[in-house]
Amino acid sequence: MKKTVVITGATSGIGRATALDLAAHGFHVIATARTTEKAGKLTAEAAERGHTLRTVLLDVTDPRSCQDAVAEIDEQTDGGPWALVNNAGIVNPGAFEDVSETDARAVLEVNLLGVARMTRLVLPGMRQRGEGRIIQMSSAGGLIAVPFNGWYSAGKFALEALTDTLRRELAGSGVRVSLIEPGTVDTPLVSGALARLAPPDSRYEAAYDRARRIVTARKPPGPETVARAVRRALTARVPRRRYGVGYEAVMARAARLIPPAAVDFAMCTALRLNGRRR
Ligand SMILES: NC(=O)c1ccc[n+]([C@@H]2O[C@H](COP(=O)([O-])OP(=O)(O)OC[C@H]3O[C@@H](n4cnc5c(N)ncnc54)[C@H](OP(=O)(O)O)[C@@H]3O)[C@@H](O)[C@H]2O)c1
Repeated sequence: MKKTVVITGATSGIGRATALDLAAHGFHVIATARTTEKAGKLTAEAAERGHTLRTVLLDVTDPRSCQDAVAEIDEQTDGGPWALVNNAGIVNPGAFEDVSETDARAVLEVNLLGVARMTRLVLPGMRQRGEGRIIQMSSAGGLIAVPFNGWYSAGKFALEALTDTLRRELAGSGVRVSLIEPGTVDTPLVSGALARLAPPDSRYEAAYDRARRIVTARKPPGPETVARAVRRALTARVPRRRYGVGYEAVMARAARLIPPAAVDFAMCTALRLNGRRR
């Protein structure tokens, strides 16, 4: 029997690529979307490729929407999905001094609390069946914090911690939990973040320009590379705790072994943040 996988935020970037990849590899995919238009577009795209997937409307920041979506999924799957991929995410970039509390809260609502909300709702079914998979879309930004992405990293670091706890608490339950840790991937999240990294009258204006140049100097890989890592986590008999994806994930892990002063020096020199007086 086909295994059912729910993917949140499947209308763009990594979620979309994962939905199409898993549908092409024999999974029963339930892709979540925020609007019926986007849901319809994804279904049509899958159909064009000769695959089927179902869609459910979901906004992970709205507890009611999460409950309704999971109730609908439970009905469609006779008791709940085999796996949940918590992929939906946003970024509100900028220096600490440039990001408002509202924008900071929005990041944590989607990237951390939304993940917790959906996980809490699918876990009882998985526990009852004695099996299931939870895949958390973390980031290299959950391993190392670079300037101008502080709230994103705060959310992803917290997601890493919460997931480590959850995995240990679920030991022996049959439910396996994995983190996916991609470096920069070519998606609208990144292009959107770069475009918004320019608040007027910021003291960081020049450093933002440098950050943009650094990020765009290399062509990042496409979201399909991350989709393959998700598939590996879903098909492995014993999935790994963490799947790094791309060169930046390796660099992030390496940077954690280097003295923090050296990491500070490298980052601040690259962005010319050293020695400013303003
Ligand atoms: N791109 C990267 O470089 C990168 C690297 C590491 C990790 N990641 C992580 O990968 C995940 C996907 O990112 P992406 O790059 O593929 O971004 P993306 O192309 O912007 O896609 C984000 C998806 O999340 C959905 N979403 C946003 N807010 C939501 C909400 N409140 N409720 C439900 N869905 C919501 C979006 O829906 P709409 O289409 O309706 O906006 C979209 O489908 C995120 O968790 C991100 O942190 C990305």
